[in-house]
Amino acid sequence: MKVIPETVAIIMDGNGRWAKAKGLPRTAGHKKGADTVRTVALEANRLGIKKLILYAFSTENWKRPEDEISYLCKLPGIFFNSYIKDLMKNNIRVTFAGELERFPEDTQKTIRKAVEQTAHNTGLELCIAINYGSRREMILAAQKYAQEVADGKRANDLTEEEFSSYLFIPEEVDLLIRTSGEERISNFLLWQIAYSELIFDPTPWPDFDEASLNEALEVFAARDRRFGGLK
Ligand code: IPE
Ligand code: IPE
Ligand code: MG
Repeated sequence: MKVIPETVAIIMDGNGRWAKAKGLPRTAGHKKGADTVRTVALEANRLGIKKLILYAFSTENWKRPEDEISYLCKLPGIFFNSYIKDLMKNNIRVTFAGELERFPEDTQKTIRKAVEQTAHNTGLELCIAINYGSRREMILAAQKYAQEVADGKRANDLTEEEFSSYLFIPEEVDLLIRTSGEERISNFLLWQIAYSELIFDPTPWPDFDEASLNEALEVFAARDRRFGGLK
């Protein structure tokens, strides 16, 4: 049987270029991209992937024009209104990673509600990285740890496993996919991808589908992971 990775992360890139190529506003690409989130989450769940981490908004994306940011703030509402039923029906649990506080109240509420509503589901964990940046995640972890040391914790005992537990995302990522042909990490999961397999797929995120995911999983299954050792 094919090896299915436990934890898969995707940099969902190329929404804007997809829209532009069709003569549409960039927001149309984001809208279609939200439909892809549903498609890919359902397929990942069906395949038995445990955790799917989707990069939805980076700490650097605040540099975008105001109208695009304002649409992206509305997108969680649009997404969960349309698809929360499908997520429930398929036993998918929603979580998030990142600092939600910077978003408008209603965006925060929508996301927290989806997390609560799906909290008892036992299928795929669908983790949305939103206002997420890996460097920021590490700074927050270091601050929290430093505070505990100031309060009397022994600094010399810190292990990699314990450090991971201070991050938004403690798991090792088995497979990282970036869509749209860009080949960079853009401040995503720097700690967690130490031994990930990396796949760069030229498909823009709005066109990514079940077949694209399965193709990536085939490539993953054929890779030889050595983790620094020998086979
Ligand atoms: C990814 O698509 C979605 C977000 C970063 C919010 P982009 O919006 O980056 O689309 P391109 O890369 O400009 O085509
Ligand atoms: C990375 O994509 C962030 C998300 C997909 C949410 P960007 O489009 O923001 O990354 P760069 O600017 O091309 O590196
Ligand atoms: Mg992009």
